[in-house]
Amino acid sequence: MIFLTQLLLLKSMAMASKLLMRVGSIRDAKIAPNPNPLLNATRRLFAHHPISAPPHSPPSSPPDNGKTTHDKSQPTSSLKDLELAKFSAIADSWWDSEGPFKPLHAMNPTRLAFIRSTLCRHFRKDPHVSRPFEGLKIVDVGCGGGILSEPLARMGATVTGIDALEKNINIARLHAGLDPVTSTIDYRCTTAESLVKEQKMFDAVIALEVIEHVADPAEFCKSLSALTHPGGATVISTINRSMRSYATAIVAAEYLLHWLPKGTHQWSSFLTPEELVLILQRAFINVKEMAGFVYNPLTGRWSLSDDISVNFIAFGTKVANRDH
Ligand SMILES: C[S@@+](CC[C@H](N)C(=O)[O-])C[C@H]1O[C@@H](n2cnc3c(N)ncnc32)[C@H](O)[C@@H]1O
Repeated sequence: MIFLTQLLLLKSMAMASKLLMRVGSIRDAKIAPNPNPLLNATRRLFAHHPISAPPHSPPSSPPDNGKTTHDKSQPTSSLKDLELAKFSAIADSWWDSEGPFKPLHAMNPTRLAFIRSTLCRHFRKDPHVSRPFEGLKIVDVGCGGGILSEPLARMGATVTGIDALEKNINIARLHAGLDPVTSTIDYRCTTAESLVKEQKMFDAVIALEVIEHVADPAEFCKSLSALTHPGGATVISTINRSMRSYATAIVAAEYLLHWLPKGTHQWSSFLTPEELVLILQRAFINVKEMAGFVYNPLTGRWSLSDDISVNFIAFGTKVANRDH
């Protein structure tokens, strides 16, 4: 088994280097240094390290059959039609734990553990009770079919789930309706920037695995910040733009293991932890905790780690005296 894992890793690395040779834009892009990246992130942050230019977005084409909130009268700075088309094509599989969203289902307990511990500490809630988020208003931005919104509601939060794709929202509503506790979730087909226009605010704003699919990550973070009450919390998870993420999150996950449809992720759209910290800081959100997710191929389980070289999650708080 260990031999197979090593073989797989070697194969991934070989394929990755071949693909890297072919893709000029990737070859020229900045690679995040791996050893102790959080320390590097902090050092660079205080050294005012400039973030690299936002990745160039390819010309977009309209989503195939997915209705979005793409109304010309609405601000849509975060929408990337090509990305939404990918999610529209697999929207029916949201609750199939063996389907294209298998990695998100598998990561869910681990990311919920991070959210539970950081939010409970921040809002002085008891993490050991069954409904620790009682009294908290949380928005799940880019909620998809609701696989995170539902457990948040079960933990007692008053949850709003938003997604740019109507198909996702319909599936999320249908599934949440099966349980009286989750049927209270307010699902809406909209974007973060549209909610800002409505002057909505929340105790906690959560956007997991969304920022790598938006058109303008910095503007997206500004919207997340505007939705967060001063002193409130923001949680974001995404994928690091590192060599390892190219080998594992793209080559292995999409091309070798077929966990995700090919083309799900664009490596150049990933952000390094340093970049995310800086973008958030510019949006008045200070990152207080960060953790990595690592996959154990022997158990098939994910766990929290200080290795943020591939998948990582950040918890930040909005400065208390700032109101957008
Ligand atoms: C990888 S999925 C993550 C789903 C969910 N957050 C989770 O982790 O279980 C990304 C989701 O973000 C949505 N999305 C992409 N861009 C968006 C935007 N600008 N505003 C709202 N939702 C968006 C997609 O439709 C998709 O459902």
